[in-house]
Formats: sequence, structure tokens, C-alpha cells
Amino acid sequence: MTKPLEGIKIIDFTHVQAGPACTQLLAWFGADVVKVERPGSGDVTRTQLRDIPDVDALYFTMLNSNKKSLTLDTKKPEGKEVLTKLIKESDVLVENFGPGALDRMGFSWDTIRELNPKMIVASVKGFSDGHHYDDLKVYENVAQCAGGAASTTGFWDGPPTVSAAALGDSNTGMHLAIGILTALMGRQKTGKGQRVAVSMQDSVLNLCRVKLRDQQRLDRLGYLEEYPQYPHGEFSDVVPRGGNAGGGGQPGWVLKCKGWETDPNAYIYFTIQGHAWAPICRALGKPEWIEDPHYATPQARQPHIFDIFNTIEQWLADKTKFEAVDILRKFDIPCSPVLSMKEIANDPSLRASGTITEVPHKERGTYLTVGSPIKFSDLKPEVTASPLLGEHTDEVLASLGYSNEDIARLREAQAV
Ligand code: COA
Repeated sequence: MTKPLEGIKIIDFTHVQAGPACTQLLAWFGADVVKVERPGSGDVTRTQLRDIPDVDALYFTMLNSNKKSLTLDTKKPEGKEVLTKLIKESDVLVENFGPGALDRMGFSWDTIRELNPKMIVASVKGFSDGHHYDDLKVYENVAQCAGGAASTTGFWDGPPTVSAAALGDSNTGMHLAIGILTALMGRQKTGKGQRVAVSMQDSVLNLCRVKLRDQQRLDRLGYLEEYPQYPHGEFSDVVPRGGNAGGGGQPGWVLKCKGWETDPNAYIYFTIQGHAWAPICRALGKPEWIEDPHYATPQARQPHIFDIFNTIEQWLADKTKFEAVDILRKFDIPCSPVLSMKEIANDPSLRASGTITEVPHKERGTYLTVGSPIKFSDLKPEVTASPLLGEHTDEVLASLGYSNEDIARLREAQAV
């Protein structure tokens, strides 16, 4: 099967999570991704949170599948020479260095486009160019705080809280992938490359769009009717943390199921969406609530929403989360068990779809990873192992025209 991105050559100058998540996605879809790493050490995640001594950590293997690894010291003249050749022959360079690092290395946007006017240079930074914090180095949780996620996540009587989901890292990588694909399409029309830049703050904020909606509603109205604080609690002038309330205007909550006393994940998420109210009443054995003016509309329900959730919890008390969902789905009620990572790892549906997939690795044996969440009718992305450090150095150098003697010279200079 020909993969859609086959023939697209990507210099993967990324590290940690945000950049690698982007280039891994492009590699799954067929791009030829060459990860450029510092000789001797490589991406810091190779050694971070190791579970097996001297073997690439899962942090690395789960973000760098389907790539080649070229070791190259791009601060040495010999390394710069190799990078220059690579730039001339590639389509895209992706990087997520600290601000200014690529310029300091001698490869500014102007230099790169002079070397290859068709080149797309794609960058992740913590903050966008010209932002008053654009000199800052940024990691995941910094971005979640800067992008509005932390101030709006958690409970109203607790501190701002970050999410376990990588809203700053992988999410920014996904935004960058969209930018790169757009620039590739643009290049087909103009013949020219361009710079693509995505900031982690902006990418987090893009996912917090509904909270900016809520800020404007709060400014106008002074309250937010779907938040647990309404109508009994207080609102200040900023969007509050809403606990587990639904962000889309449908009241919902995490509710205890049978076994919650000992199992930290014996819960379901339950949404009281407008259309589902009548089925919910029937499922709970409360048909009288359907027409009762105290319950019939979302506005009528909100003042005693927690009494309603309590009633649902009583109904759930003798049902496991899976039993409860199996009953509720028959009534067309939106809900889900709260799944642990262990349950997800063993979920037969996720395994069958390839979203959870096993990858054989030369040194660590087989490990689990998250495969492509994007499904196609004519492409089944296959996940192959992440490369060992420098595994493809000779192969890549040979493809650039270096002879064995040249490669020995580069090794001698400790440039590769
Ligand atoms: N050969 C030689 N030098 C190399 C190299 C190579 N192959 N690869 C990287 N370097 C150098 C860089 O040129 C830079 O040098 P300089 O600062 O002296 O000019 C140096 O390594 C450090 O790079 P940097 O990216 O700043 O690493 P860091 O460990 O200090 O910071 C981050 C890490 C993630 C905080 C930072 O890269 C960052 O803010 N990135 C942008 C935002 C981002 O992506 N963050 C999320 C990561 S998941």
C-alpha cells in the first residue's frame, strides 16, 4: 500500500514530547522521518523514567516510532556540513528547541530558505513570536497554566489543577502536524516553503475555547447557569473551576458505582443532556419526573442538580460501572465507565482497532503504545519500533553521498 506521505523527507530536530508527537504522526502516514540527535546522549527522554537499565525508556519509544536516528553534533563544522546537505534534500524541518537555539546554531529561517526555498520549517515554542514571554523555555504544565486550562480545571475549593492529558505537549504537536500538512498543500500551489509556528500556550487555549465563551457570558450575566455554583454559590468576575461539570452546557458528573469504596475508578460519567432526560427518568424508575415542572427543563433541574445526581448514585449503588453503562446505553443515555489505564491497556476494542498496539523492540522486547487515533479507509498505519541512538547514521550519510572514508572522518571529528 502506498502511504500518502511517502516521499516527504522530514528532518526531525525535536525532543521530549511536543515535537516528537508531531513527527511520529507524520511517520505513521508514510513520511521519511530522520531524527537528528546529539551523539552520545540523544533525546533526553531516552534515559528519562527508565524501567529497564540501559534500555531506551518508554517515554522515548512511545513517541518516536517509525523514525530513523541520525547522530549529529550540529555545533561542529562537520555536523553543520551534514545538516546543510540534509536541508537541501528535505521537505520539512521540525524543531522544538528553546527560543533562539536554531538561530544560534547558524540555521535561521533566512539561511534555511536560501539553502532550500521549498523547505517548510515548523517550530513549537512555549509562547508565540513577539509574546512578552517569548524568551521562556516551557514544559507541559507551564503551558497548561498559561493557556487557561489550569485556572478552569479542578474543584472550586481547591487550587488550579493541571490535566493528565498532554494538552501542552502532544496537543501542540498535533496542531503543528496540521500546520505542516497545510504548508505542504500550499507548496504544491506556490512551489515555495514557509515557516509554521505553533505555541504551546495557543494550542492549550484553542482547547479551552469554551472557557473563553464562559468568561464573556459571565461578564454579561454575572453567573453561569450550568456550573455547580449556580444558583446557590457565589461567582466572582472570573470563570470558576467547575469540578466535573460538563463543559458544553450539559450538566454531568462523575458518579459512584458499586465498589467505589475500594476501587478508585468505580465511577461512571453521567450526562443529563436535554434530549436524554425522559430516557434517564425511565431508566431510573422515575417516570413521574418527565412532566414534573420541578424537573422537566434544564433550568428547573439546576437548583437541585445534586439531589438528582444523588438519586442516580443510589440507583448505581448495586451496579458495577460496566453493568450500569450496559443498562443506560439501551436508553440512549450518554455515559461512560471511568476507565483505568490498566483497563484501557487490555481493552479488546482498542486492541482490535490498533489504538492500543504492541510493538517489538530490539532491546526491550515488546511494549504497548498508542497507535494512530486517526483511521482511514485506505491506510492502516503500522507502528514500528523507535530507533536506537544513531541506528541509521551510516545509512542516512550514505544516502547523502558520503563514502565510508567520509563517514570515518566525521566519526573522527566526533560530529556523528
Ligand atoms: N548538536 C548540538 N547541539 C544541539 C543538538 C545537536 N544535535 N541538539 C540540540 N542542541 C543544543 C541546542 O542548539 C541548544 O544550544 P544553545 O542553547 O547553546 O544554543 C541546546 O542544545 C539546548 O537546547 P534546548 O532546546 O534549549 O534544551 P533544554 O533542555 O535547555 O530545554 C525545553 C528543553 C523543552 C524546555 C526547550 O527545548 C523548550 O522550551 N522548547 C520549546 C517548547 C517545547 O517544545 N517544550 C515542550 C517539550 S515537550
